[in-house]
Amino acid sequence: MKVGVVGLGAMGAGIAQLCVEAGVDTVGREVTAELGEKARDRIAHFLTRKVEKGQIESFDIALLTTTTDLSDLADCDLVIEAIVEELGPKQELFVELERICRPDAVLATNTSALSVTDIASKMSSAERVVGMHFFNPAPLMPLVEIVRTEQTRDDAFETAYALGEKLGKHPIRCHDTPGFVVNRVLIPLLNDCVRVLDEANVTPEDLDAGMKFGAGWPMGPCELLDLVGIDVHVHASEAMFEKLREPRMAPPEQLVEMAKAGQLGRKSGHGFFSYDS
Ligand code: 3HC
Repeated sequence: MKVGVVGLGAMGAGIAQLCVEAGVDTVGREVTAELGEKARDRIAHFLTRKVEKGQIESFDIALLTTTTDLSDLADCDLVIEAIVEELGPKQELFVELERICRPDAVLATNTSALSVTDIASKMSSAERVVGMHFFNPAPLMPLVEIVRTEQTRDDAFETAYALGEKLGKHPIRCHDTPGFVVNRVLIPLLNDCVRVLDEANVTPEDLDAGMKFGAGWPMGPCELLDLVGIDVHVHASEAMFEKLREPRMAPPEQLVEMAKAGQLGRKSGHGFFSYDS
């Protein structure tokens, strides 16, 4: 099996890392060769650490090739898209993938909160499109949501499910409803957490301690938002609000302002907390 990954940012690189670890031939596409190399180095670093810690015996980084040319994905059996979380660019990419890839290739999107149906709506073979929604950080979080639309063919859906298992994940089957399963619950919950900061006049440190030590969360909501990316969360909240029109789905003003100011969390060095590069 050969897998293509389009976009080697935090999520795409994490997914490519899982593929290499599972011994799958992988081709990753980035917009510049430099970004591709950077992602490959990061993947090699994390896998080397796993070898050093005795979690895996070895890995073969040669399984991953990077390219800037989408047509290098022509012989992939399954392609996972992990580009910017905007409908227009995703729709354009899927039309191009449809042209480039074999007719039997499955095309998957890692979208957080956009509709898989909308992403596939400009294509003539939407029946081969599924959602494969991984969680951040993809190499560490066990879940992948396998999402089907009204049009998705059973064999495409099952191919994606089987790949989820091959990558060592716990796949769950779900439908193309806003936020699928986890984000439908998690996004309004994180928005509530941010609103509580003001309402209860509590610091991010104390809110995080509250949810970690009082509710058993592995990390606090502010730390989690910094990890996911404030901009990513704002985008996802906006997409959910657009579909569901529930006020809790709309991004809190504080997050919108942080995103505008470039306070994006870990990736920008500053969000609710500050980070060394
Ligand atoms: N790839 C591989 N390894 C990684 C990594 C990555 N991307 N990121 C970190 N690691 C490594 C670390 O470097 C560390 O290795 P080291 O021993 O060499 O330093 C190892 O993994 C373990 O890291 P931690 O000690 O930080 O691990 P923890 O045990 O503290 O767990 C966690 C980290 C799994 C992130 C845990 O804190 C957690 O479960 N947090 C909640 C995360 C969460 O809820 N994610 C979902 C976000 S929502 C989402 O993604 C939806 C989307 O649509 C927006």
